[in-house]
Amino acid sequence: MTDKILPSESKSYWRATNDFEMFPKLSEDIEVDIAIIGAGLTGITAAYLLSKLGRKVIVVEGSRILTGTTGFTTAKVTAQHGPIYQKLINTFGEEQARLYYEANTAALHFIEQTASDLGIHCDFEKVDAFLYADTEDGVDILQKEMEAYNKIGIEGATLTKETGLPYTVKESLKLENQGQFHPLKYANGLIKKAIENGVQFYEQSRAKSIHSTNLVEMVDGNEIRAKKILVCSHFPFNDEDGLYFTRMYSERSYALAAPAEANYPKGVYINVEKPTRSIRTALGADGRRYLLIGGEGHTTGRFEGDTTANYEALAAFGREQFNIKQYTYRWSAQDLVTLDELPYVGPMTSGLPDVLVATGYAKWGMTNSTVAAQIMVANVTGTGNRFADLYSPIRSKMKKEDIKSFTKINASVAKELVKGKTEKIDVLFNDLQLGTGDIVKLDGQKVGAFKDVTGKIYLVKPVCTHLGCDVVFNDAECSWDCPCHGSRYTFTGEVIEGPAYEPLEKIEYAE
Ligand SMILES: Cc1cc2nc3c(=O)[nH]c(=O)nc-3n(C[C@H](O)[C@H](O)[C@H](O)COP(=O)(O)OP(=O)(O)OC[C@H]3O[C@@H](n4cnc5c(N)ncnc54)[C@H](O)[C@@H]3O)c2cc1C
Ligand code: FES
Repeated sequence: MTDKILPSESKSYWRATNDFEMFPKLSEDIEVDIAIIGAGLTGITAAYLLSKLGRKVIVVEGSRILTGTTGFTTAKVTAQHGPIYQKLINTFGEEQARLYYEANTAALHFIEQTASDLGIHCDFEKVDAFLYADTEDGVDILQKEMEAYNKIGIEGATLTKETGLPYTVKESLKLENQGQFHPLKYANGLIKKAIENGVQFYEQSRAKSIHSTNLVEMVDGNEIRAKKILVCSHFPFNDEDGLYFTRMYSERSYALAAPAEANYPKGVYINVEKPTRSIRTALGADGRRYLLIGGEGHTTGRFEGDTTANYEALAAFGREQFNIKQYTYRWSAQDLVTLDELPYVGPMTSGLPDVLVATGYAKWGMTNSTVAAQIMVANVTGTGNRFADLYSPIRSKMKKEDIKSFTKINASVAKELVKGKTEKIDVLFNDLQLGTGDIVKLDGQKVGAFKDVTGKIYLVKPVCTHLGCDVVFNDAECSWDCPCHGSRYTFTGEVIEGPAYEPLEKIEYAE
């Protein structure tokens, strides 16, 4: 079944439908006004905004540009971030909830306007956003969310059963005039303009640490001196002081894309129940409409069995509800969720005022990355930004709900740490099938083993180099994933994403 309905390799719809310039490696020490670490939508938007102000800016990207979460998003551009407003009112009060709405609505308009001003053909479309429910509990959530909308004055919202989806729902909350776009075409447009304005981009240039003297040390030994350093690396790579890994967790999700039928749904959709189903369409390079279906989220590294089952669940949903028989693209990605589900943007710690961080968008980073870039730019220029306090990573004291989340996140990490050390290994090395990986017993030792389709063996010590949790094998992506804070490694042990920055220890295997 899997082979027929799913492409065998992960390929993001966005990355497959956009070309990229190749930038050089940073090969010398450099002194600049502002150093931006990480070329996802956050870093690129900040670079564009700063370039307009004539600042001397460089962007260093550890891998290739836009190969982080931005290259694997669903790219709805909306201020409807799930049923967020009732939560925000409960945690922060109406005024702060309204500010969050205003920040993200302004970001939506900024993206539309910027694309138009710069002539970026990024397939931006105005669409209605729908939160929908299939159960009575879900309807209750939508009604409460509508009340929250009314309290903070969100206009253009209605409860309706008319969604444009080919299946009936019990209820939906429609928010008019939201958006969707091709995130990489948009980001590439910003890069082009930033380069015209003098920004220098570097790829394959990984930052290793930041010193209090405003010096960025690169993995290959080069140094960057900057008046301000913007950490836009998704997970802050320099987390020594901020302990962000105790205040966020990483959530992975899966997505599929296939040519859509003629009467495709016109909005962007997400349900309020589990499992999540996130739906939109996009205009393909071949002129056809593609249907994108996302969902099946779980904490990174925490899953039962084989992760290809998540793709299969989405495929079954698409087959049943949209009559899709075969998919063209499949991919998965992760985003970071903070204690109170609001991003952390601003000075990384109170002791490091010139090092700014932007992270924790909880899968709503298209508008939040714009808000974050604007807050960081205002910090650099000293002009102030009315959303800065709301997003501040050092925002006052922890609320009761935050303490609960903090305890839950860290207790579950502690459990994973112990579980990995005490769990009995029942898979024997010789039982490993072609094209699979697992933690196995070899000569009495616990090792992480991957056997490729030709039978070649790759062995690693299955212990995460961040804080020592045992990694697990993710079959769908052929990666080693850490259940504690979401670090991921290739099957050979190289870091894909942090907080870890050192590879897994390799173990020699004589065949
Ligand atoms: C499945 C999924 C669906 C989503 N759908 C939506 C959606 O519909 N709408 C929405 O608003 N949001 C959505 N999001 C969220 C959104 O995609 C992300 O929040 C956003 O892309 C994050 O952007 P970023 O620039 O912060 O990070 P990234 O795009 O990850 O960029 C960070 C960059 O930093 C680089 N880097 C890391 N460490 C270093 C280092 N040490 N040195 C140099 N470079 C480094 C990485 O290589 C990477 O390129 C979704 C997320 C997921 C996972
Ligand atoms: S990511 Fe923290 S221990 Fe692995």
